[in-house]
Amino acid sequence: MRICVVGAGYVGLTTAAALAVFGHEVQCVDINQAKIDDLNQGKMPIYEPGLDDLITEYSQKNKLHFSNNVVESIRDYPIILIAVGTPSQSDGSCNLSYIKQIVEIIASTINSYKIIITKSTVPPGTNEWIQQTFMEMGIKDDLFDIVSNPEFLREGRALWDIFHPNKLVFGTKTDRPLEVLKQLYLNEDTPFIFTSLTGAELIKYASNAFLATKISFANEMARICDAFEVDYADINKALGMDPRIGPDFLNAGLGFGGSCLPKDLSSLKHSALTHKIETKLLDAVIEINHKQIELYVQKLSDVLSPLAGRQITVWGVTFKPGTDDLRFSPSIALIQQLIQRGCIVHTFDPMVKLEASDVIPYMDQYESVDNSDALIIATEWDHFINCDWPEVQGRMKGSIVLDARNCLDGELIRNQGLLYLGVGIG
Ligand code: UDX
Ligand code: UDX
Repeated sequence: MRICVVGAGYVGLTTAAALAVFGHEVQCVDINQAKIDDLNQGKMPIYEPGLDDLITEYSQKNKLHFSNNVVESIRDYPIILIAVGTPSQSDGSCNLSYIKQIVEIIASTINSYKIIITKSTVPPGTNEWIQQTFMEMGIKDDLFDIVSNPEFLREGRALWDIFHPNKLVFGTKTDRPLEVLKQLYLNEDTPFIFTSLTGAELIKYASNAFLATKISFANEMARICDAFEVDYADINKALGMDPRIGPDFLNAGLGFGGSCLPKDLSSLKHSALTHKIETKLLDAVIEINHKQIELYVQKLSDVLSPLAGRQITVWGVTFKPGTDDLRFSPSIALIQQLIQRGCIVHTFDPMVKLEASDVIPYMDQYESVDNSDALIIATEWDHFINCDWPEVQGRMKGSIVLDARNCLDGELIRNQGLLYLGVGIG
């Protein structure tokens, strides 16, 4: 099939490459000319394991093309997959202006039957609005079908997730596009969920809201464990053995970040409020998450006071390991709080050199701890889990290691004569 993917971001690029692997002819377009030029020179605008090789291979096979000609491409391709950004606004709602721009282009150029697939995460009712907009513009409903097809990709594992999905969700208004949709992702044995446009939108929000709820539950439990001097890791392990609970997304620490969970939670809350529905649980999930940063700063100042003037090294600035993405990174929120408390902050991250005026970023992991009073693990990269603790101990001035991801072997660190701190570490 001939498919135009609009938006060459994390989701658009990964999806475009995978669709080419599935044998489709894919045109990936983006308004950002520089991004398209880079892609046409084989330069990746984002880091995602395996994506660069796939893009090179399928571009050479003429299955995958990149262009800035958004209007022509939308006019010429029968299947349009929208993956533009839907960033948060100050009131928690979603900025749908990019979606609206693409919808206007489609509506003003449509001259043959098209399937319009929304992959971007949008609030409930958005795809019904797209349907309505087309009708109001007098476009006959036999000339198009709107489809809501949310993604569940995790950054850093996006290709794995797209080639091994646990479900494929399609929201439609009619049955007409179903046969085509079944041929889109050639993942054998993957269950399909066919539902309404708004049903699919809410499946996406519910998924991310539940993942965030598990994490905030884990963080609240870790606080309780801390008070009783119990190692939360034992609780995590035991909970995970119950198939009704499941082992994933129970890791306590600095909280959840990234471009999806925080944004989708506040957008779901906003959508619920527009229908006068109180969101007590979501509110608690968001509040617990926000308070995690303060909790770890307090843990540090309990043993290092005053904090002002202290040199603190923060290892990990990305919102999670395996990505170069800094969007809504809890580590950056922690760094900002430390700076507000008058600390001198040194950082190291295997993937990103944090360019910020009041932070000293290092390219060398061990140099970054030279003469530091304390070291904080903010993102659980393997580089930190398997690091040379005698080297660290020898270079630091202080001896505090604050594990804000419960990812280190406390015994090993204590045996090095370092003070191992954390929440719910027994
Ligand atoms: C996006 C959405 O933000 C997210 O809600 C959804 O779940 C998946 O798609 P992501 O891929 O991470 O997430 O966004 P981003 O990396 O910002 O990429 C969006 C791309 O769309 C950018 O490259 C931007 O230049 C492009 N874009 C935006 C267009 O091509 N046209 C536009 O009108 C607006
Ligand atoms: C998430 C969803 O997992 C994915 O299905 C959806 O499509 C997009 O949003 P992503 O944003 O890539 O994916 O990150 P994810 O791996 O979910 O992690 C989100 C945040 O939660 C990270 O900051 C991570 O550090 C944190 N986290 C995750 C925890 O604090 N504890 C956990 O047990 C798991």
